Amino acid sequence: MARTVFPAGFTWGTAAAAYQVEGSPLADGAVASTWHEFTHRRGTVRDGTNGDVACDHYHRFSEDVAQMRRMGLAAYRFSVAWGRIVPSPGAVNEKGISFYQRMVDSLLEAGVEPWVTIFHLEEPVWLARQGGFEKRSSVDHLVSLGEILFARLGDRVHHWITVNEPSVYAYQGYMTGEFPPGRKFAVRPLFACQHHLLLAHARLCAAWEARGMDGMIGLAHHALWAAPARPQDPRDCEAAMVMDELSNGSVLDPLVRGSYPQRALRRVGRFLPRTLDHDLPEMRRMGTYIGVNYYARYAYRWSRFMPILHSTEYHAPDAPRSAMWEIYPDGLYRILDRLRTDYGNPPCFITENGFPLAEKGGAPALDDTPRIAYLADHLAAVGRAIAGGADCRGYFLWSLLDNFEWNYGLSMRFGLIRTDFVTQERTWKKSAGWYTDVIRANAVDQ
Ligand code: FCB
Repeated sequence: MARTVFPAGFTWGTAAAAYQVEGSPLADGAVASTWHEFTHRRGTVRDGTNGDVACDHYHRFSEDVAQMRRMGLAAYRFSVAWGRIVPSPGAVNEKGISFYQRMVDSLLEAGVEPWVTIFHLEEPVWLARQGGFEKRSSVDHLVSLGEILFARLGDRVHHWITVNEPSVYAYQGYMTGEFPPGRKFAVRPLFACQHHLLLAHARLCAAWEARGMDGMIGLAHHALWAAPARPQDPRDCEAAMVMDELSNGSVLDPLVRGSYPQRALRRVGRFLPRTLDHDLPEMRRMGTYIGVNYYARYAYRWSRFMPILHSTEYHAPDAPRSAMWEIYPDGLYRILDRLRTDYGNPPCFITENGFPLAEKGGAPALDDTPRIAYLADHLAAVGRAIAGGADCRGYFLWSLLDNFEWNYGLSMRFGLIRTDFVTQERTWKKSAGWYTDVIRANAVDQ
């Protein structure tokens, strides 16, 4: 058995997002988010469920915080539902603010550090009606949400995530149509959306710094490992490099280098907003750390038929897969190592990593041994990267509870704790006890 020991003070946490856990999306003056509207449209969510109740965290957060304490978590990452706080442009809903203040207080009382995500894949319908993140005005709206949060929670919250996964929001919303607004192959809006989210990140960091607040602020990047389907085929290699630049470089380069990767620029430059050159110097603002959300490797093949990208995803028949993605722990090591070698070794946190299991026939699956194996292998990869000099300071597991997994709905479960979506009973799975031991030992065995 091999043991990986983490540096003293390594932050152990779990992560979640508002629409996925809270439920009560319209309570106490909240207005609808695009996800609320989307999930109530037929055919958008694979199992036909929605986030109307989810984990009922809106009413049960104290109970959930007690679970965190029991597990020994040092930190909890959660997002705010924008529509609870800003019911219309310029307005502030005090009841929404008070919900998050109570949550923060209860975390602090339990000795759990709150990490707040300002934007996690959901926007209010009023913003979408104005064109959402396709339009540049969205940047100002998101920055004013941040200003409200800094002012009203900033005395107690010292860790911020500006934007979660800009590339995923843009790609799923405007390319595959699996997320709201549900558009397909809308290439120009896709790049406008991602660009505006990155610009908003930079301005949120600037606003936070201008307040002279102490703590940390960064963006959570969906890092994926892109590989050629056939490494000996130069066209597959080119396809993988393009996808790597589009999914990783096009988020990290503007933040760290103030530029856009060349290969990607050649392919899609004409679709980027005309303000790009003007914006890039301003976008060069990483914050104080990089957040890494890592789940999987994607293999790509060159394709004549795919316009612009000339690449398609390929599932190797012999590659180990979870219910959603290819399992490839080494990708996490390589991403962290690349941050060290190519991006100046910034402080970083794993802001998400986790394993999906679908329950068959509704029978509770409390023995989630495959999840433990996945998590242990990925933690060992983090340990290897740290041993090689990467400045990785913490790990947030997705997720504490089974919750609403976006377009997969309630049946794709990521929790350490099982949620019974009828009774709202929480039951520890095997992985919950395992994670408790990892935290206590500050080490993982494989
Ligand atoms: C990430 C999202 C998160 C969750 C996990 C499984 O892409 O940021 O909300 O759904 O995937």
